[in-house]
Amino acid sequence: MVGSAVLLLGLVPVVLCQAEFAPPTVNISLDDDPEVRWMPLLKVFDVDYLKKAAAEVIDSTVPKWVHHAVEPVVMALEKYVPQPYAGEIRGMASQIRGSLSDVIILNFAYEISAFCTSIVAQDKNGHVYHGRNLDYPHPVLRNLTVNIIFLKNGEVAYSGTSFAGYVGLWTGQSPNKFTVSGDQRGEEHWWDWWKNVVSAVLFRRSPVSWLVRETLEEAQDFQDAVIRLSKIPIITGVYYIVGGVRAGEGAVITRDRPGPADIWPLDPVNGGWYRVETNFDHWLPPPSWDHRREVANKALNATGQDNINMDTLYQVLSLIPVCNGITVYTTTMSAAAPERYNTLVRPQGCRRTD
Ligand SMILES: *[C@@H]1O[C@H](CO)[C@@H](O)[C@H](O)[C@H]1NC(C)=O
Ligand SMILES: *[C@@H]1O[C@H](CO)[C@@H](O)[C@H](O)[C@H]1NC(C)=O
Ligand SMILES: *[C@@H]1O[C@H](CO)[C@@H](O)[C@H](O)[C@H]1NC(C)=O
Repeated sequence: MVGSAVLLLGLVPVVLCQAEFAPPTVNISLDDDPEVRWMPLLKVFDVDYLKKAAAEVIDSTVPKWVHHAVEPVVMALEKYVPQPYAGEIRGMASQIRGSLSDVIILNFAYEISAFCTSIVAQDKNGHVYHGRNLDYPHPVLRNLTVNIIFLKNGEVAYSGTSFAGYVGLWTGQSPNKFTVSGDQRGEEHWWDWWKNVVSAVLFRRSPVSWLVRETLEEAQDFQDAVIRLSKIPIITGVYYIVGGVRAGEGAVITRDRPGPADIWPLDPVNGGWYRVETNFDHWLPPPSWDHRREVANKALNATGQDNINMDTLYQVLSLIPVCNGITVYTTTMSAAAPERYNTLVRPQGCRRTD
């Protein structure tokens, strides 16, 4: 399908050698004990593959000598990891018969180097749409991507997209209430990973992806979600993008560790019918080598508020370089239409094919 935005811009549509595919979906029941609730994961993922993939991510994120050096420390930290995450991580490690410290490292390692683009937009009828690309420099994550439906009393409490072995959420939906995505803020390196762990332990701060999960579980509506995502202390800066169910319910929250640096809401009355967030503060120009924001803005302008919907939003998220060589998956969602939540994995990212 060649989109109107693509045609209007005169850009070459992306031709993929391998078609996008929907990741597997698993049900995780919050009524089960944290140590066993992730067992359904093993119905769709092979244990040996999971172990190999985890080792690959760790090897490319944490240098080997650091990995060995921190192992005993991580074991000591385990008692500081709050519930239910501690139980879930312990259960996961035992189910894949892997090392506990590796699963802990994995759950903190993902906190860094996630490049992303998120867009929240509102059409002329007041419908709010939310889309995101998750960019991450580990190809193996494409095969670990999974949609998770969290159930409480047999009903859907919230859902999201994650990676097998990871208990937090970077993308999620509380049906008929709100949608959330997280984009990394600023540049972080592997040594910051260590700062993050210390921050988590000493200051009792949440990893950013755990706060997403807690918000999806507890917040009553869009406004409540924005307040929680703005003020609850977290271990590193991040951008939270939130979409609601009513006209005007959309915002980009720029986070410092202790609280909000800025809140940038939709402002449709004054032409602000969409907000694009990549990995830089929206009030500053992005670095000259990064054209994702500009290309997304242009494509949204070309699409127009009359034509924005889940499909055209997906097309904007498919344009190079918004979608690029390290894009792992694209999600489009709308809290008012929870059944339309859609994640597609990009098997080879997006590349120009001349
Ligand atoms: C997951 O739970 C939902 C809601 O209870 C149910 O409709 C669906 O069949 C379940 N899927 C699987 C794979 O168990
Ligand atoms: C992902 O899985 C497919 C199919 O099993 C395989 O061909 C591909 O090499 C895997 N990709 C990575 C990066 O592991
Ligand atoms: C998009 O449109 C807005 C409003 O007309 C304008 O201010 C902005 O410069 C445009 N952005 C791009 C990248 O064309």
